[in-house]
Amino acid sequence: MKEKYYITTAIAYTSSKPHIGNTYEAILSDSMARFKRLEGYDVRLQTGTDEHGQKIEEKAQAANKTPKEYVDGVAAQIKSIWDLVGVSYDKFIRTTDEYHEKQVQKIFKKLYEQGDIYKGSYEGWYCTPCESFWTESQLKDGKCPDCGREVKKAHEEAYFFRMSKYADRLMKYYEENPDFIIPVSRKNEMVNNFLKPGLQDLCVSRSSFKWGIPVDFDDKHVVYVWLDALTNYITGLGYDVDGNHDALYNEFWPANVHVVGKDIVRFHTIYWPIFLMALGVPLPKQVYGHGWLLQDGGKMSKSKGNVIYADDLVEYFGKDAVRYYVLTAMPQDNDGLISWESVIETINSDLANVLGNLVSRTIAMSNKYFDGVVEDKGAVEPVDAELKDVATACYKKVQAKMDVWKVSDAMEEILNVFRRANKYIDETMPWALAKDESKKDRLATVLYNLTETISIGLALMQPFMPDTCEKAIGMFGLTLRALKDTETFGLTKNTVVTKTPEILFARIDSAKVMEKVNQMIEERQKANAPKQENKPATHDHSEKPQIEFDDFTKIQLKVALVTACEKVEKSKKLLKLTVKLGEETRTVVSGIALAYTPEQLIGKKLVMVTNLKPAKLCGIVSEGMIICAENDEGKLAFLTPEKDIEDGSQVF
Ligand code: MSP
Repeated sequence: MKEKYYITTAIAYTSSKPHIGNTYEAILSDSMARFKRLEGYDVRLQTGTDEHGQKIEEKAQAANKTPKEYVDGVAAQIKSIWDLVGVSYDKFIRTTDEYHEKQVQKIFKKLYEQGDIYKGSYEGWYCTPCESFWTESQLKDGKCPDCGREVKKAHEEAYFFRMSKYADRLMKYYEENPDFIIPVSRKNEMVNNFLKPGLQDLCVSRSSFKWGIPVDFDDKHVVYVWLDALTNYITGLGYDVDGNHDALYNEFWPANVHVVGKDIVRFHTIYWPIFLMALGVPLPKQVYGHGWLLQDGGKMSKSKGNVIYADDLVEYFGKDAVRYYVLTAMPQDNDGLISWESVIETINSDLANVLGNLVSRTIAMSNKYFDGVVEDKGAVEPVDAELKDVATACYKKVQAKMDVWKVSDAMEEILNVFRRANKYIDETMPWALAKDESKKDRLATVLYNLTETISIGLALMQPFMPDTCEKAIGMFGLTLRALKDTETFGLTKNTVVTKTPEILFARIDSAKVMEKVNQMIEERQKANAPKQENKPATHDHSEKPQIEFDDFTKIQLKVALVTACEKVEKSKKLLKLTVKLGEETRTVVSGIALAYTPEQLIGKKLVMVTNLKPAKLCGIVSEGMIICAENDEGKLAFLTPEKDIEDGSQVF
């Protein structure tokens, strides 16, 4: 019987369309799943969507949809992106699936009844995007210690999980299973930052919003989104709290590996194992916390229109080129970078120059010199030995790297096989051999050796670029060989290459493509800019009576430089600006969020009333007022000095 291999991705939030970073994780897990399938394992790859929580409830509200309508839309979008990049999942679970929801309710009840969960109350701070509670001392500069965003004061009656009860057992599990968390740097972080200081009880219910799985014996509360989401790994296999598990659960649990981003390693290596211990369920064998794929040259932001999405990249470059880029751009234990330019560069250097060129030259020469027939004539020369060694030794190297999740290094080994083959062409100079009739057999053997090496390289590259490898091997009249057969040179008997080879990867004209990409970014920027609402002006536009000059001089106006700006949470109209007036810095809340994004204001010099009495807007004290022009349709334009002048300058 085949050995089982259960691999999972984190389940993506259905708050918005996933960017290339989230998609990277699905591609990475898919590549490992494909590799293990080729190695003969019975693999199950599970992915899916995490659909509950306050953030999603708020997003749905803003989109004028019910939460379920909203998550249905985004979940479908996520699934279609996973399909587009070729994620070969066996199960796509959604946390709104009925079976999952029922089991989560039962799990919560069981943990409550056995005393691991108890009812208490919470006083502290809440970060909505992270759906996490924090105590005053846990905050970093008054902000969420995880994401650095604003937190809100919170007081709630809630259910808590007794984490500390299991801390020693968890530490023991780490010690007995040294590969449980990789890379090791992330394990050290967990031990030093969380386990050693002592685990605090975890708040596992929420009552300040509704969009979650209700606690069935106390429906004022919904289950904490992480307790809900983490259990997907077992409910997706048909785990049943009462013991009536589906056969899949018995076959595939415990998971071989949970693949997650570095930001959520804590949830998977502390909370999740502890929940499982409390349930009496065996623990997963490994958690791989990969780094993040970051945008080269600045943060991705929707309003800047520069978020990189997998579907855009696929449209420009094709699925396998995108897979190749993201997989090779990421080291095992660190972050990687992505930009449109670097994707183009990699495609040109690795895929067009090395792989594409090798395949097209080899096929062209077989056609030119032997009418497409590839046959080993046994005319061996010493130079062949190194090529054969590099090719046949590759699988072991790839296997060793894949075992420790060094995926980009494994791929580099395979590319080296193709590079070595290109070098072999330079060394053997088939065009020179062709000129000498007596070297015909040697020429045939050279082309055979090249074909054989390509066949080995393509078989190894298949998990990472499945369609390209299928297509390329087909052009040689061959099929992809089994991985273990890549250790033997000379398996190919006679074959005939295609007369009409396709170009696998054409060289990309970077300037041309970048022009189009920049145009796309600009259009998105415009589309994402806040819409100017077509409604009457909100201010009093009637003519005002005459005033004395002295009345006018009571108003102090100054030039203000906007140094920071952000949206005010809970308000559609308000922006919070930090402005510099010479030596002085002030906070101003202004109702211009429908006309400007924060990015459009940062760095601008505006005119501001500086001697208005401070007023509180949405809990923020505003120390001034920004001057704007407004037409009868409510269109706004701020006023700015016509030439550069120091901030803090008086306006008369
Ligand atoms: N819903 C949670 C996971 C629950 S698992 C029980 C979540 N969702 S997410 O949509 O924010 O992220 C999904 C995965 O993508 C996470 O593993 C996260 O770390 C990863 N990434 C998010 N941004 C990423 C990059 N920029 N680069 C690589 N991975 C990224 O977290």
